[in-house]
Amino acid sequence: MTHVEETLVLIKPDGVVRNLTGEILRRIEAKGYKLVDIKLVEADRGRLGTHYEEHAGKPFYEPLLEFMESGPSVAIRVAGNRVIEGFRVLAGTTDPTTAAAGTIRGDLGRDWGLAVQQNLVHGSDSPESAERELALWFD
Ligand code: PPS
Repeated sequence: MTHVEETLVLIKPDGVVRNLTGEILRRIEAKGYKLVDIKLVEADRGRLGTHYEEHAGKPFYEPLLEFMESGPSVAIRVAGNRVIEGFRVLAGTTDPTTAAAGTIRGDLGRDWGLAVQQNLVHGSDSPESAERELALWFD
């Protein structure tokens, strides 16, 4: 069944600083998804606060925003059939220590003993989030 969607993928500052942008893009393209738009972004607190608004008040919220402000991210508009779900499978689960081997987080991430969890990528979690996040990062 054809169900073309678009999702927002972010390569977070740890992915950029570790020179993993090419490897992560390679995995997205190798899976067969299309890169529709891409840019390097120094996100400010206003945009990050909106992006992560559903997590405001959680213990990781402040450290997460500080981490995301620590350097540029790569924002990518990615298209494909069921790409929202598909990219999240490609990314692996949140914690890179336990994310499955074969996934971006499982293969390329680990616990660095830092206060904040660095897990390389973000992917929208639903069609509603994808629409909201793509408008926030690209429009
Ligand atoms: S929740 O509470 O179950 O909705 O959280 P989860 O979906 O696992 O994560 C939501 C986003 O917060 C990030 N996160 C963290 N960042 C840094 N440190 C810690 N401890 C931490 N815990 C969760 C997680 O990576 C998700 O960010 P995105 O950018 O959406 O992947």
